[in-house]
Amino acid sequence: MSSQAPSKRLMAPEITAKKGVEPIVSLTSYHAHTAAIADRYCDFLLVGDSLGMVMHGYETTVPVPLELMIMHGRAVVRGARRALVVVDMPFGTYEESPSVAFRNAARVMKETDCGAVKLEGGRRMADTIRFLVERGIPVMAHIGLTPQSINVIGGFKAQGREEAQWVEIEEDARLVAAAGAFAVVLEAIAEPLARRITAAIPIPTIGIGAGGGCDGQILVMEDMLGLSPRVPKFVKEFGKVGAAIGDAIKGYAEEVRAGTFPATEHSYTMKAPAAVADGAALPSKASKKPKTPST
Ligand code: KIV
Repeated sequence: MSSQAPSKRLMAPEITAKKGVEPIVSLTSYHAHTAAIADRYCDFLLVGDSLGMVMHGYETTVPVPLELMIMHGRAVVRGARRALVVVDMPFGTYEESPSVAFRNAARVMKETDCGAVKLEGGRRMADTIRFLVERGIPVMAHIGLTPQSINVIGGFKAQGREEAQWVEIEEDARLVAAAGAFAVVLEAIAEPLARRITAAIPIPTIGIGAGGGCDGQILVMEDMLGLSPRVPKFVKEFGKVGAAIGDAIKGYAEEVRAGTFPATEHSYTMKAPAAVADGAALPSKASKKPKTPST
């Protein structure tokens, strides 16, 4: 038995238990300082592979390596105390087989200390989800628009806007729930379909661009802060952080150029009045008197 006090961090089953009880609030987070702030308000934080595009300048999430997810996952776990931390499995680390997925997901769990992983795909990932959950790894599923498949889908397109697509997407949701996923992200899905799926499955639906009928919501933090240069239609900017950063840096640059920063209050003074006049040579170590040895 451990002698440590039990962690106050939310666990995957507690997120599942919120379905029908209260809306689930979540954001992506990639670093310790934003995780510490979001932790006060969010039920879970997702270290999304969107970090490749948002922070590292990739065009898509496809090139994101596992090591990058682990590095950012560790930072978020260090920053957050209460929220469940979920880390995305990046493209190429889980699709090949359930055992490859287990090896990589176990590495993510061990090296980041996160509480769950997320992977993209509906029916095609059901066996893998079951394999991971049966072996102790909580899995959040992700259906609808799955950005890691961008090269097959042919663009960041909303899903389920024609009724002919509904059966397949709803079946994806049922199958990931039956496989043991503790929640499922619905990305860019027509609002009536997302609402229908939410009523049909026993696990929480977490919407991003899927309307107000889901059990919870997630947004990319940089998008909702107003820090991203372009945002999709479904994003509401709750802040103007990009503009605030621009103003702050402009003010700094102006003051450095004008010589008004740093001012006296930003500088260290001497403990005793300076004995050396400006431009005079500093006393050298060699000119110091040797200490008298103590007897
Ligand atoms: O990578 C990510 O940020 C995500 C969210 C869009 C759900 O998967």
